[in-house]
Amino acid sequence: MKNIYSLLPDSASVSENGDFIISRFTIKELAEKYGTPLYIYDAVTVQRNIQILRNCLSRYYPGDSTITYAAKAYFSYPFAQHIAKMGIGVDIVSENELLFALKAGISPHKIHLHGNNKTDSELDGAIQSNIHAIVLDNFDDLNRLTHLSTRNYSVPVWIRINPEIDVNTHPYRQTGHALSKFGFTISDGQAENAIRELLSNPKFQLRGIHTHIGSQIFDPHTYSEAIHKMLAVAKKSQWLPVEVCPGGGWGVPYHLEEIDLDTGIEHWIKEISKTIQEEYQDTSFIPHLFLEPGRWIVARAGIAVYRVGGIKSLPNGEKLLAIDGGMGDNIRPSLYQAKYEALLAENPLGKPVTRYKVVGRYCESGDTLLEEIDLPEVQAGNHLIIPVAGAYHLSMASNYNLVPRPAVLWIENGEVTVLQKRENLWDSWWC
Ligand SMILES: Cc1ncc(COP(=O)(O)O)c(C=O)c1O
Repeated sequence: MKNIYSLLPDSASVSENGDFIISRFTIKELAEKYGTPLYIYDAVTVQRNIQILRNCLSRYYPGDSTITYAAKAYFSYPFAQHIAKMGIGVDIVSENELLFALKAGISPHKIHLHGNNKTDSELDGAIQSNIHAIVLDNFDDLNRLTHLSTRNYSVPVWIRINPEIDVNTHPYRQTGHALSKFGFTISDGQAENAIRELLSNPKFQLRGIHTHIGSQIFDPHTYSEAIHKMLAVAKKSQWLPVEVCPGGGWGVPYHLEEIDLDTGIEHWIKEISKTIQEEYQDTSFIPHLFLEPGRWIVARAGIAVYRVGGIKSLPNGEKLLAIDGGMGDNIRPSLYQAKYEALLAENPLGKPVTRYKVVGRYCESGDTLLEEIDLPEVQAGNHLIIPVAGAYHLSMASNYNLVPRPAVLWIENGEVTVLQKRENLWDSWWC
């Protein structure tokens, strides 16, 4: 059913007075206390999503499995502490993500490091911290790590394979096609050569095989294609990986029209599990499966709240609704032409009477969050809620126009805690 509630956090509802509430708080009171733009994460949604992943894994996958959250979707130190409490691991791509994860208490044995151009210091940090695996992306990465690993033990690594397939998602979110910057390609022999080199070099312990074909994908069959291709190259190199990771990337609906695209996370895990079992059927062995979803865990758990500054009428009759955030905290509409829904916090179920274009506050004509949305009558001072705002908004946020990044809240058991204070640029840039 196309229902706005399926885009909202589990704890969202509408009060008897018709106000949007999350847990027991109205948006108005949170906005007054913490200011806007404001991001709010609902703990229940994150926890349930992780539980759903766990249930699917235990239902469909007969071997061991580990969920490693893709920190790039959203990360902060308190958020990392919540992830640690939930007992899952993380996939990281930078020194700070490693630092936050370790300090928050995430076990190094549940951390793996990605990146197509890792620095020496990132590689060294990963070695010193004894993380589960460094994911080698290309020959430069491999050579750099060879020179750095002076210890007399083997560095645990995975190899990232580029399966050279096209997936149905925005071109900027495709990462497994032949011309992508990520991973060792198969067709030119790079993947096979790298596997053979890693197997013969005592500096490395080649534990696992990895691929990540892109993000915001709804078709489970593209995953089976990628897994078959990457495991075929392992077989050709006479290697039986004990760990297999088909990445993350499972999509979430962002607006009502996308709800029908969503075939469900269960199909993703079922298909991955079936494909790996097919590939290992001639052995008496089932590998450890790693999944690294980011968006699917946090996107729907988060909402963005903006204050409406004013409404401008254009000569052609269009109405521009100006909010106090925009491309600085959500680059997705400009980068991927991403579409969203929006709700008026003060009247979320009101009958739509006017069509608005929602524009941000930044000095760019492309700073448009929603090309069109039908809403009840809006006034300056009202609050606009954008659902499905938990992934790749704040983690990609900027300080364009020297606007500070928003405050971020976490709501759990009817209590609010701050995940990120509203940024104070004067303090953080003073040197
Ligand atoms: C290597 C890798 N794994 C996992 C992810 C997570 O993807 P998503 O957030 O779409 O699940 C990404 C994101 O692009 C990634 O680059």
